[in-house]
Amino acid sequence: KPRVLSGIQPTADSFHLGNLIGAVQQWVPLQDEYDAFYFIPDLHAITVSQDPKELRRRTKVGAAQLLALGIDPRRSTLFVQSQVPEHAELAWVLGCITGFGEASRMTQFKDKSAKQGSDNTTVGLFTYPVLMAADILLYRPQRVPVGEDQRQHLELSRDLAARFNSRYGDTFVVPEAHIVKETAKIYDLQDPTSKMSKSASSPNGLINLLDDPKVSVKRIKSAVTDNEREIRYDPAAKPGVSNLLTIQSSLTGTPVADLVAGYEGKGYGDLKGDTAEALVEVVTPVRERVNEYLADEAELDRVLASGAERARQVSSDTLADVYDKVGFLRT
Ligand code: TYM
Repeated sequence: KPRVLSGIQPTADSFHLGNLIGAVQQWVPLQDEYDAFYFIPDLHAITVSQDPKELRRRTKVGAAQLLALGIDPRRSTLFVQSQVPEHAELAWVLGCITGFGEASRMTQFKDKSAKQGSDNTTVGLFTYPVLMAADILLYRPQRVPVGEDQRQHLELSRDLAARFNSRYGDTFVVPEAHIVKETAKIYDLQDPTSKMSKSASSPNGLINLLDDPKVSVKRIKSAVTDNEREIRYDPAAKPGVSNLLTIQSSLTGTPVADLVAGYEGKGYGDLKGDTAEALVEVVTPVRERVNEYLADEAELDRVLASGAERARQVSSDTLADVYDKVGFLRT
């Protein structure tokens, strides 16, 4: 079976709707056709300061959300990055074939470090994309399902894979980004030309899966739209309406064109009401299942331990090959 791999950071109390629609909803069906590796990148999380207790809790809540959303540990390898030491080890080697200028061109780093100022920006944040390349290349996946904001990082991973292969001989698979155009960027409800993100200026633009659904319904009902009345899919002219259509379509599985046809003669209130209802229907059982998984921590720990063991079987092979090729002594 070909492989896929992807990860989602444990940096918030809940996944948001962008994480769900842009990433996890793509991951679930890929389990059927691929040998899937999904993980919680806690090493990435500490590139900005984290409270240790919170980080541990959020890592477990992250894993519980993946399980609740349909990642099946019997079919996929579900693990936590720090429990597989090969990630940090390969990152060092890859860092040594990454140009300083090349890393400096990463737009996510430029944006984040500009916001934080250079004294609050860590070296870890700078080398973050190199660690991400290690995450991926260790498992030799053919595809990496991510949202649009990870495209440039994926490009770097591909460049590093190809560079290592040409310098040391065929070692890594050069992975393809698996980015589904329609859902790769879910927008902020209050500012529908910016991506939905936990660090947005107003919390009202953000939908968290684990929030009280009443809060989310309110946020959807106060989403920014436009001054027309017509419901049609046109992201350039009608970003707010188009975003709601994308969200509702992803949550219900109804194609956007069918939704639009059904709204003939109806108004934005209907669109918002139906989208809110679709959200409540999806998150209500997910919230329950998350609580069930969290109630049995011993079982959750066992799932993650066995995921880490399986991940290490694959990653330690790749790392041994890499160490050998760069000229380290054989053990
Ligand atoms: P993270 O944790 O920020 O986001 C997890 C996934 O959610 C996607 N995403 C979105 N998709 C659509 N619309 C949005 N508004 C939106 N916001 C987030 C992201 O594109 C991502 O797919 N660096 C990664 C984590 C990572 C990783 C990896 C991913 C570490 N190592 C190896 C893939 C492979 C990140 O910070 O994602």
